Amino acid sequence: MKYHIEPNTVQETLVIPLMTRKVCSEKYPDLFNDEEAARICGSLDYDFSSREKLMNSTAGLFGALEVAQRQFDLLYEVKDYLKKHPKAAVVNLGCGLDDTFRKADNGLCLGYNVDFPDVIQIRKDILPDKERELSLGYDLNDYTWMDRINASEGAVFIASGVFYYLKTFRVKELLKAMSERFPGGVIAFDACNSFGAGMMRHTWLKEAGITDVKAYFSLDDENDLNFWSERFSSVTSKSYMRGYRDIYPRLGLIYKIMVQFCDRFVNMKIIRIEFRKDRLF
Ligand SMILES: C[S@@+](CC[C@H](N)C(=O)[O-])C[C@H]1O[C@@H](n2cnc3c(N)ncnc32)[C@H](O)[C@@H]1O
Repeated sequence: MKYHIEPNTVQETLVIPLMTRKVCSEKYPDLFNDEEAARICGSLDYDFSSREKLMNSTAGLFGALEVAQRQFDLLYEVKDYLKKHPKAAVVNLGCGLDDTFRKADNGLCLGYNVDFPDVIQIRKDILPDKERELSLGYDLNDYTWMDRINASEGAVFIASGVFYYLKTFRVKELLKAMSERFPGGVIAFDACNSFGAGMMRHTWLKEAGITDVKAYFSLDDENDLNFWSERFSSVTSKSYMRGYRDIYPRLGLIYKIMVQFCDRFVNMKIIRIEFRKDRLF
């Protein structure tokens, strides 16, 4: 049985990171090793041909590397949080078919995967919930998903390639609400500046039906986040490609130039926000 992914929807975008993990595991086995991604791609009823063609081009493969590296970075953040909070909730927002919880699972933590109900329906067939794992079908803008999270031992959230599909004010409200609801929690997510979002306008965002890119999330200066909520105790950022493991020395000259371009002009970063520990009341 193959699972259909509807084209030209926000949900379709889950195919992109999945494919990048498959392609990068084939092309850069010394850096990536994700056999699950290949298995999951194989279980989808989806025409991969045009994306495969793109990822075989120089620019396309570079984009794939970035997206695959992003998962590595966010997995690092999850594992880092679990060192101090081994029984914490690991919450993957806009999870698609990403299995970061399983890659980080220490046998004690709790895993939550949140995405639209139709995505979660497919996910439950392809990646059935395991022990201590719960997949939840919600629109992230409907905060009742928060009621389902047991954060009594801490919570670490990731959102990988997700906030670009939310309007900026929605991301702000969501992060504020989370900081109030999950004291001592941490969220890590990827961001780029408005120039980068403008570039995406012609590709992924357009395919997802987003044309009014200006209203959607991008970040020209991460210091702005400090003013979003008094409950953020720390906002830090790192480069995608160099901040967690530096893959720059491993790359050829053209990709080295592209990394520098992205760091300097697109401001592609992993943002990490810590929520204050003290409770509101
Ligand atoms: C580019 S995909 C990334 C999937 C996954 N994070 C990964 O890295 O493989 C974006 C995901 O965000 C989900 N998404 C976007 N907006 C959402 C919303 N408002 N509520 C829930 N999920 C959302 C989409 O359904 C899709 O699965």
